[in-house]
Formats: sequence, structure tokens, C-alpha cells
Amino acid sequence: MSKKPFIPKYVKRIFYSEKQVNQKVAQAAEWLNKKFKNNKKPPIFLCVLKGALPFYGKLIMQIKMDVIFDFIVLSSFRGNIKAVGMPKIVTDLFNDIKGRDVVIIEDVSDSAKTLTVLIKYLKSRKPKSLTTVVLVDKPDMRKVSFKPDYACLTIKNNPFLVGCGLDINEKARNLPYIGEFDKRYLGKV
Ligand code: IMP
Ligand code: MG
Repeated sequence: MSKKPFIPKYVKRIFYSEKQVNQKVAQAAEWLNKKFKNNKKPPIFLCVLKGALPFYGKLIMQIKMDVIFDFIVLSSFRGNIKAVGMPKIVTDLFNDIKGRDVVIIEDVSDSAKTLTVLIKYLKSRKPKSLTTVVLVDKPDMRKVSFKPDYACLTIKNNPFLVGCGLDINEKARNLPYIGEFDKRYLGKV
């Protein structure tokens, strides 16, 4: 089998290779392993579907303690590459998070509206703590004030990214690297 990754025509360039992404994810796992080292109850690792799924899969296998899996689906009503309106909770989590440490795993914080809505919702359920870990942070794009507790990659100048869960019209989530979307293909993918 060829080791060459699939590079669709709408990917302008590879921003971070699979190897570089894996290195950053390993560092995030190390940070989490330290942070929750002496925890009594297993933290709940909450995957924000769908975008965070590949990142979650990579990360969770490197966590060296008992953890509980959970998932939530949020809609962010995207136009082509811009989110419009406020995100809504589409599918709720499985666990009661009251008194528990919850680690939110998300693909990207851009305007940060999604994470702000999610965090407000989760706080209403009285967790012991909330920790937010993102694969990609775009601090220049904020519409609301927000800083993730841990970001694997911090990106400037707002390129639209695809791969490792990040999509363009639901495509490209499966790419093993993070690529830059070629805006000439806007509306054509
Ligand atoms: P927010 O603007 O921080 O609320 O992010 C909303 C959602 O926009 C994220 O969960 C992603 O699904 C999506 N998003 C933001 N930036 C990008 C990007 O560069 N590529 C793909 N999706 C993105
Ligand atoms: Mg997302």
C-alpha cells in the first residue's frame, strides 16, 4: 500500500503533516497525564462530534489512567466556511457529570462561540472541573473572549483548514494531515 497521503485538489498545501500532528497530540496527552495524575475518579473525556473524533482517537490511547468516554453533538450551522448563528446541542452526553472532572476535546476554537455555548451548558450541570483541549486554536478569530486550557497548534492569519476532523462541507475529515483549503474551490466542494 502506498504511504503517500490522499491530497484532494482543494488542498492548497499541507500545513502540518501527520507526523507533526502526532507529535503535538503526544504532548497534549503528556500534559493531561500530568494534570490528572493524582485524580481519584476517572475524568470524563468528552468528544465534541463530529470534528474532534480523529483527534480524540489519537489522544485517548495515550492517556495513562482510567477515563470515561463521552460524546456530544453540536450544530454550528455553517455556511461555506463561516459559522452563522449560535450553535445548538443536538445530541446530549451519556454521563451525569455532576462532581466530575470533564475534559472537553474539540477540533478548533475559531470564533469560540461553540465552546462558549458548550461550557455554559456543561457548567449548569455542576462538574467538579472543566478542561478544554483543542487541536487547533485561532485566537485572532474570536467573537467572544476565550482561551483553551491547552491548544496543540496555534494558527495566525486564519487560513481555512481541513483534515484531522476539520471539514469543508463534510469532506476532508479523514485526511491524516492538516491542510489549507484552496479558496478557489469555495462553493465547489
Ligand atoms: P467556532 O467559530 O469557534 O464556534 O467554531 C465553530 C466550528 O467551526 C468548529 O467546531 C469547526 O467545526 C468549524 N471551523 C472553524 N474553523 C475551521 C477551519 O479552519 N476548518 C474547518 N472547520 C472550522
Ligand atoms: Mg467542531
